[in-house]
Amino acid sequence: MGKYIIAGNWKMNKLPSETCAFVKEVAAATVGAQCEVVCCTPFTNLAEAVKGAQGTHVSIGAENLHFEDKGAYTGEVSADMLLDLGVKYVIIGHSERRQYFAETDETVNLKVKKALEKGLIPILCVGESLEQREAGITMDLITIQIKKAFAGISAENAAKVVIAYEPIWAIGTGKTATAEQAEEVCGAIRGVLAGLYDEPTAKTVTIQYGGSMNAGNAAELLAKPNIDGGLIGGASLKSADFAKIVEAAK
Ligand code: PGA
Repeated sequence: MGKYIIAGNWKMNKLPSETCAFVKEVAAATVGAQCEVVCCTPFTNLAEAVKGAQGTHVSIGAENLHFEDKGAYTGEVSADMLLDLGVKYVIIGHSERRQYFAETDETVNLKVKKALEKGLIPILCVGESLEQREAGITMDLITIQIKKAFAGISAENAAKVVIAYEPIWAIGTGKTATAEQAEEVCGAIRGVLAGLYDEPTAKTVTIQYGGSMNAGNAAELLAKPNIDGGLIGGASLKSADFAKIVEAAK
């Protein structure tokens, strides 16, 4: 299965002035990591984050990007701007962006394509609400999200995408999906990819689980065959907690 990646999603937390030291702290706490370690930070913090990660095994990601190359898009940030800073990953379509900032499956697809065209690694987020889960349409919804996100993307490029399955009801709530629930959806996502492309492509894609993953539950989730990592919110803000999750990714 895909390469293991543990990525922190800081969301709108931490100041630029504390970022360099914190990333160094994360690097020190995760020395010898057997997976890829990523810190995704606000745009304002990225330059400091890259500085802190220099010469370490930690990679830096952004939390969003715009799908146009440049131009009159006040307040937006392009792929080239991120690359120029030394950013490697970019979170795309997080449920908070879909919910509060009107991201759609269409804009998510444009952003995934732009990231791939430019050489950024997209961390594509998909996930159902509690209402959708209770209505029994989780897999229908996730299938649509995946198919639309990958529209027009070649197998070669698809293999580079990281997918984060994040049930909305588990994000920031302390209510984690059980390892079985998470595995069921992550396995199904791999099935959708195999249908869209082929088995080798589906196997190459890294599929993370996200939603209240922490030091206590990470090992059980990461032991599942279709879960190749985690996208970590709250627990990525303390280096010791984050390091325990990285430790569990063996
Ligand atoms: P959480 O956030 O770990 O705080 O639940 C995960 C995410 O939203 O990526």
